[in-house]
Amino acid sequence: MSNIGSYEVRLKDFNWSISEKELGYKPGNTLNIGWYCSDRICLQGKGDKLALLWESSTGAEKKFTYHDIRRASNSIAAFLHGLGIKPEDRVCLFMDKVPELYIGLLGILKTGAIGQHLFSAFVDESLFVRLDNAQTSAIITQKKHAPKVRKILDRLPRLKHIIIVDYDGKTPLREREVPFSLEKAVPIDHFDVYPTQAESPSLLHYTSGTTGQPKGVKHVHYSLVSQYLTSKWVLDLQEDDIYWCTADPGWVTGTSYGIVGPWSMGITQAVLDAGFSAEAWYKFIEKYRITMWYSAPTAIRSLMKAGNEVVKKYDLSSLRHLASVGEPLNPEAVIWSERIFGKAFLDTYWQTETGSIMISNYPGMKIKPGSMGKAFPGITATVLDPKTYEPYNVTGKIGLIALKPGWPSMMRTYWNNEEAYKNKFKNGWYLTGDRASIDKEGYFWFVGRDDDVINTAGHLVSPFEVESALLEHPAIAESAVVSKPDPINMEVVKAFVTLKPGFAASTDLELEIMNFIRKKLSPLAMPQEIEYVESLPKTRSGKIMRRILHAKEWGEEIGDTSALEND
Ligand code: WTA
Repeated sequence: MSNIGSYEVRLKDFNWSISEKELGYKPGNTLNIGWYCSDRICLQGKGDKLALLWESSTGAEKKFTYHDIRRASNSIAAFLHGLGIKPEDRVCLFMDKVPELYIGLLGILKTGAIGQHLFSAFVDESLFVRLDNAQTSAIITQKKHAPKVRKILDRLPRLKHIIIVDYDGKTPLREREVPFSLEKAVPIDHFDVYPTQAESPSLLHYTSGTTGQPKGVKHVHYSLVSQYLTSKWVLDLQEDDIYWCTADPGWVTGTSYGIVGPWSMGITQAVLDAGFSAEAWYKFIEKYRITMWYSAPTAIRSLMKAGNEVVKKYDLSSLRHLASVGEPLNPEAVIWSERIFGKAFLDTYWQTETGSIMISNYPGMKIKPGSMGKAFPGITATVLDPKTYEPYNVTGKIGLIALKPGWPSMMRTYWNNEEAYKNKFKNGWYLTGDRASIDKEGYFWFVGRDDDVINTAGHLVSPFEVESALLEHPAIAESAVVSKPDPINMEVVKAFVTLKPGFAASTDLELEIMNFIRKKLSPLAMPQEIEYVESLPKTRSGKIMRRILHAKEWGEEIGDTSALEND
């Protein structure tokens, strides 16, 4: 029996107080996610239950019970407190998927500070922009990533502490660096958890938009109310589950459903700190007897590509429920997974800004492969006419996906950018920036984004950020960045560039430019192709028309070009 029971019944009787009651939270009480995810579970008598099963790329294992993560997060909180970290200070977590990346967040939240996870793949500029915007006070990192922080330290006067979790005492520590070892720290049984309230800030998640620098999405502790109930009803987490969320907490999926959701439910979760490989993933499922698996379309397509023979080598019979997020889940992937694992991946749709699943398929509900499913009970979702911002009164028309504001995990603002936040609302609706249609049965069918943001393997890349970085290369005069179709990653980054006089187009230069972006931003943002052009299509006012280049890449109609300069 699934946790949601009948979707229709849940819909009819829905009230967020269902979640509040289960969490034992009453409006006005203190609410601290760090406490909810560790101390509360221990108080329920589940302290000896496993909270985290961790494995490294070399096969090293670590296991943590709820008592362990409670005490370890207390130790981290006390350490941060000792450094002078104050409530609402931003503390960044910049590591591979090591246990500290997960438990560290609970420690940060227990001090009342705000957690800021950043992908360990980020380098110089990507890291700097996000730490500078957030005015981050401390960064928790590993030896191997510390050099990236050192490089930008001069430009970050507010970054007071660089906490190294695996310091070996061999090389001398540098300016502002301090060691902290979870293994050597004295476990602290009691820490006075800071009494955050529902609206106290909890997390800052950076996400890329079409224009401007990445925006810091501010979430609050009350988001727990959404994350708990969606974990229960959509991910269908149950007491004996061994849950695996493949997402890195640098991405919102890895915090909402890789930390907060499962641990607030007292579930055992497993983490594999290794890159993708079909064999390694299947082996991991077999070894830990994974029952619930939350992953992403690119990973599923990569598994499909690896073929069906490799699946047969492993016992995957433990799998009970599968779900996916981040990009359109193509019908073939749904059908394939049903055939191969005996379970279909259920598509879920949401965003960094929404903090929790908004539209999805539910266990027990009829699946229409290719559809994202229906709105979560308590969420009013619709598609709007892009001209009037009014919901369509007929089904089947493509419009803008919009949500009625007010659910618990809705972002509260973009950090230091209230204007961009306000621009997300029209006519009383929150605009997701995506397009879809709704069929007669209320199922949503994703069509695409309504902006130029590139979704490569589930990661949002801002064309603006890549274009700006390209212009810093000495050979490049102008640049335009668009997506290009890709069979596995759905989209990849493609750059069109014009060269400055004296530079000649060549394959060597193309590789050099790609590397330049990889080192400046991250491997995710690196263009997979650079096309040299004589000129870029521009409007009469000089704005580069990415739309034309995009249409060419996707073999679509170019549309209205009346504003083109070189007509
Ligand atoms: C896209 C990820 C199609 C969409 C949790 C959205 C999806 C953006 C789906 C948010 C899905 C997410 N089908 N597209 N099931 N889920 N997206 O902020 O464009 O990293 O706006 O949050 O990913 O990406 P973000």
